[in-house]
Amino acid sequence: MPSASFHFPRNFLWGTATSSHQVEGGNNNNNWSRWEEEGHTPHKSGQACNWWGEEWREDMDRAANAGQNAIRISLEWSRIQPSPYTWDQASLDRYRGMLQGAAARGLTPMVTLHHFTDPLWVTDQGAWENEATVSLFAAYVRRVVEALKEQCSLWCTINEPNVYAIEGYLRCTYPPGTYSLKNFVMVQANLLRAHASAYRIIHELQPEAQVGYALHFRPQQPAHPKFPPDVWMSQLKFSAINMAFPSGISTGVMRSPLGKIRIPEAKNTQDYLGLNYYNPDTVAFDLRVPGELFSRSFFPKGSDVSEAGTNANIPAGFFQSFKWINKTYPNLPVYVTENGIEDATDRIRPRYLAEHVRAMWRAINFCWPIRGYFHWTLVDNYEWERGWNQRFGLWELDVETQERRKRPSADLYEAICRENGLTSAMVEKYCPEAYSRLFPG
Ligand code: FCB
Repeated sequence: MPSASFHFPRNFLWGTATSSHQVEGGNNNNNWSRWEEEGHTPHKSGQACNWWGEEWREDMDRAANAGQNAIRISLEWSRIQPSPYTWDQASLDRYRGMLQGAAARGLTPMVTLHHFTDPLWVTDQGAWENEATVSLFAAYVRRVVEALKEQCSLWCTINEPNVYAIEGYLRCTYPPGTYSLKNFVMVQANLLRAHASAYRIIHELQPEAQVGYALHFRPQQPAHPKFPPDVWMSQLKFSAINMAFPSGISTGVMRSPLGKIRIPEAKNTQDYLGLNYYNPDTVAFDLRVPGELFSRSFFPKGSDVSEAGTNANIPAGFFQSFKWINKTYPNLPVYVTENGIEDATDRIRPRYLAEHVRAMWRAINFCWPIRGYFHWTLVDNYEWERGWNQRFGLWELDVETQERRKRPSADLYEAICRENGLTSAMVEKYCPEAYSRLFPG
């Protein structure tokens, strides 16, 4: 067998990503806790991974002891500003403690300011359907950055604005769960205004900061590339799913299925792009599904899919995503802000991880400026509309006892982080079935 290794640039960030509502526990003042109370989810988040009960310390130990040098977390707006006129200093102090804890363990933090959850008082005034939320968010961002700028300089304004809008207003699996194409568009426009305003506020308070957002990016492949309806549908979906924020940030005009919206203040408001990549979709024209824009999305027959069939191991789509980024924004730094697969038994994860790391290495060899990688996620966390049914962790969580158990992928990821690269010996040990794809002799 040939032996080889794929090494990464010095100072590359290797970490894991998570979000407040998914790990903290005890959140009861946001749109998601209400959604859970109303019975829309198979389970409630409950104490989640008990980070608010100080378990973040052990989890950060876990990450640092496994060779990681970075961590992506988010802040819970509803804790920091529980009502329109109250700011909770104790929560800000707790977050400061967490960030100091990260630094003490050698973990560079990336902090997300909005990751799907809105305080209930914001929800009750229309959340992002209401343009007034933009200035409310701006006030929150100002508070946070004033309080935490000593501890963080890598900020992610908003996580997956496209998913927030798709799931909330088209697929109706996230709150508010009310179908509206108009709101799907308006909510993204307001999130983009909020992003632009956060970008400026952060730079005003902290000129050296790096500010971006996390885009859920899904390449769309036509099922039959020579059948024009499949091609058109895949282009339509590509644009509807991926392009709102990128178009607005490139030109100051946001593209949407309902036409263009001028948001001039959004132009050039990113110092990096955060890429959340899980897998691409294959798209086929189908008159039977008007609700899905007359097309079906699926994974091609024979794909390497997760047990529930919701994720697939398609590393070529990861490479394609980097290619698209570099074409759209030449020389813009990129952080992979999320990448991973749901896999309770760790059957696919080792090869998924190795093959995605290898695709990223290949992209770096084109001199595309990829600066870091955050795997989703460290420990199984609460997965929104799927509750505890999806397990994305390098560590398994027993939700009742809060015990963590390492999956083999955790050892593989540790080896990658320590080596700052992937070697053939690692592949031989953790996912020999992928050897010939990774190291063709
Ligand atoms: C992304 C979300 C993240 C997590 C992963 C699996 O869409 O940003 O919170 O749920 O999917």
